[in-house]
Amino acid sequence: MSSRRMGIGIIGAGQIAQLAHIPGYQAISDECEIVAAADVSADALAIVQRDFGIPHVFRDYHEMLRLDSIDAVSVCASNPIHHPATLAALAAGKHVFCEKPLALNAADAREMVEAAEAANRILAVDFQTRFIPQAVALKRVIERGDLGDIYFVRAAWNRRRGFAPRTKGAFHSKALNGGGALIDVGVHVIDAVFWLMGGPRPVSVSGATYLKIGNQADGGYNPWGPWNYEDIDVDDFALALIRCDNGATISLECSWGLNIVDDEYHRIWVAGDRAGADAILGGGGASATRLRILSAESDSWVDRVHQNFPPVARPQHAAVADFVRAVREGGRPRSTGEDGLRVQQVVDAIYASADSGREVRLD
Ligand SMILES: NC(=O)c1ccc[n+]([C@@H]2O[C@H](COP(=O)([O-])OP(=O)(O)OC[C@H]3O[C@@H](n4cnc5c(N)ncnc54)[C@H](O)[C@@H]3O)[C@@H](O)[C@H]2O)c1
Repeated sequence: MSSRRMGIGIIGAGQIAQLAHIPGYQAISDECEIVAAADVSADALAIVQRDFGIPHVFRDYHEMLRLDSIDAVSVCASNPIHHPATLAALAAGKHVFCEKPLALNAADAREMVEAAEAANRILAVDFQTRFIPQAVALKRVIERGDLGDIYFVRAAWNRRRGFAPRTKGAFHSKALNGGGALIDVGVHVIDAVFWLMGGPRPVSVSGATYLKIGNQADGGYNPWGPWNYEDIDVDDFALALIRCDNGATISLECSWGLNIVDDEYHRIWVAGDRAGADAILGGGGASATRLRILSAESDSWVDRVHQNFPPVARPQHAAVADFVRAVREGGRPRSTGEDGLRVQQVVDAIYASADSGREVRLD
């Protein structure tokens, strides 16, 4: 790319655009500038014009994509828009940084990855866990071989209660969101585990999903207020056993509502044949971000390293900067479209296994 600043367009100017993407780009304003934003909501556009000084706004993202001054877009609209907006942006010659989940299903995700390849453009996915310091430190420990051969990982993102409020989009609808807790928070867990493990291939999945709390009129206290319990048709809890080609197994859990004592925010336990690790990757403030490495010494497990990491307010800012660097320097983003596709394949397999009651093979 030339030395001029990279031009950015934002598709979907809601919460994640305002909290993460727009400030992320504006934090590196010597490298890029936000040229325009597109949203079907005039209110959302008015907010981003007023609060972030974005010069041009569009109600139809296709019109925005005609601007030659835009080199790349962030796709921050609701889940069903990720696929059509990404394809339209790639067809217009733009690079794409897409919010998670990459798509509603693996077939759509594959089409997006292939379109990016054909257009010779970068497709990155916002799996921001890859930028959380304790996750990066754990990855380094694993790559150094300190844990030995990793044969079991347990990973969870269990909210005791954490249903999206009524006022917020269509998280409760399978047709509109693609799924529930699994496609919302489970995708972060799946991506983090495969990234940390160095990318083994998932070969089979046995999963189950439940909707037990979310459809109750009196499902208990919800930190974000009343939710759409009347017409929710997605999972509020999902779990899976995933077998990998290297013999390792992954046990996965995620929930928006589960009767457990405490929230288990994005926690990963890694068991190798030399040592183990327990990482809490976010949520709940400073005390909740932690990485412990456990090694077997003198017949008992001891804490070898105990580090508290300061909470990172917006790891997405680092993800945005990584995307900008990849486009400007022609490199690879830390989290690619292929990574998003792998996650989507596992998600599809968990839903298929839950529906059929049988193990699903991923060949
Ligand atoms: N990485 C993360 O941890 C994280 C966190 C929150 C949300 N997200 C993802 O970000 C996306 C948006 O979530 P949100 O919380 O910002 O929701 P939101 O409802 O606040 O914002 C979505 C915006 O998309 C707009 N939109 C809908 N259809 C559109 C279209 N056809 N063209 C343009 N804009 C359109 C809506 O009007 C809305 O302003 C979701 O896919 C969600 O999964 C990711």
